Amino acid sequence: MGIVFFSVNFFDSSRDLDEEILKKIIDLAVLAPSAFNLQPWEIIAVRSPEAKQRLYDAALKQPKILAAPVTLIMVGDKDAYTEANDAWWYMRDVGTPDDKIRGSIEFARNVLYNTELKRNNFAVRNTSFLYMSLMYAAKYYGVESHAMIGFEEDKIKKEFNIPDNKVVVLLICLGYFDESKTLYPRLKHRGYEEIVRVV
Ligand SMILES: Cc1cc2nc3c(=O)[nH]c(=O)nc-3n(C[C@H](O)[C@H](O)[C@H](O)COP(=O)(O)O)c2cc1C
Repeated sequence: MGIVFFSVNFFDSSRDLDEEILKKIIDLAVLAPSAFNLQPWEIIAVRSPEAKQRLYDAALKQPKILAAPVTLIMVGDKDAYTEANDAWWYMRDVGTPDDKIRGSIEFARNVLYNTELKRNNFAVRNTSFLYMSLMYAAKYYGVESHAMIGFEEDKIKKEFNIPDNKVVVLLICLGYFDESKTLYPRLKHRGYEEIVRVV
């Protein structure tokens, strides 16, 4: 039945995550779609004990952050719709004329992302695709993950030098399950009958 997710609360702190596997996970995940393919995201990979401690303090002291070999800080860029983002010009590679690209840049600035709320949504929505893609990619390489929004954004921004035009969207712990522990029981997930309204 393909990939089945559950949130791994207990990571084996004695097992590192190989840097090559982390690279493969991320290079697979970046195939995630994004609006205009602008890819308004970046990732801070927290690996050192010192950086883990700083993240732990800013994320409600969730023990997984210390136990997991890596936690990714997923950052969305609220300004990535502007012409300063060279990803706009990737469209040239597939023959899109410059005036059409400029038209899209104008439309993004004047209509799609012309309020602070829309800019924030732009960063969060797109980065959310990357993070779910990352969780699938991790699973593909046999690596477990755990998503978290239990953190204080201001503290993370200060600790990791993230400027105000960026949003800390989510954290993801990556690593291997600690087999000496028992997973929390699976909570009910609503299915088709409960969440779909066909019109
Ligand atoms: C956006 C998001 C934020 C979450 N934040 C936290 C968190 O801060 N701490 C935590 O222990 N779990 C967190 N979780 C994990 C959820 O509690 C978990 O996915 C949910 O209970 C369902 O469990 P399952 O994934 O094992 O089915 C988060 C999950 C998501 C998607």
